Amino acid sequence: MPAPLLAPSLLAGDHAQLGASARLVSEAGLSWIHLDIMDGHFVPNLSFGPQTLAALRPASKLFFDTHLMLSEPQRYIEAFAQAGANLISIHIEPAYDHAATLARIRALGCQCGLVLNPGTPAAAIEPLLGQVDLVLVMTVQPGFGGQAFRRDMLPKLREIAAWRQQRGLNFRLEVDGGIDLATAAECRAAGADTFVAGTSFFRAADRAAFVAAFNRMG
Ligand code: DX5
Ligand code: ZN
Repeated sequence: MPAPLLAPSLLAGDHAQLGASARLVSEAGLSWIHLDIMDGHFVPNLSFGPQTLAALRPASKLFFDTHLMLSEPQRYIEAFAQAGANLISIHIEPAYDHAATLARIRALGCQCGLVLNPGTPAAAIEPLLGQVDLVLVMTVQPGFGGQAFRRDMLPKLREIAAWRQQRGLNFRLEVDGGIDLATAAECRAAGADTFVAGTSFFRAADRAAFVAAFNRMG
């Protein structure tokens, strides 16, 4: 199982100064930042696009974990790769060629991930597990930060973690939505190793203490 990793979501940052918010992540000693990309169609919200990544890229050494909540992600792979994404994760729910799109992401030099909404069973991605670097199990319905953690997603995490072990695969298992120290511990026990934290990181009274407590989770 990969070492645990905290990926703060810039969605919960200060949208009037996203560069400063990204710096808070690196100053907290973290290596990943999670970038939630929304099209107002697959999810009922809009966030930011490739131009924002390109603006953040030169000043940031962070690993850009880019979550495409788009109805047609296959149309935007090149744009996000060229803008500086390090990993691009795409949802399984929309109808497009998932395998070909995952291969294109890798061919562009990025790691690739598949994302499942809460209502999507793990079986939907099972045939593609050998082609991904990361699986993201949404623990809220995507679209907005600050929602309540969906504890009913834990069996899905356990199921995917079991497949990973049985098949000797080493993809990261990520959770996103309502993740704080308590829910992260529950997800870790169910097999997750990568934790998106928007509200809990950016609204923490003491961010250093939050990160230190997360690191003690082990
Ligand atoms: C949902 C978003 C959120 C965000 C994190 O579309 O993906 O899950 O990243 O949200 P909170 O604030 O719950 O950590
Ligand atoms: Zn996300």
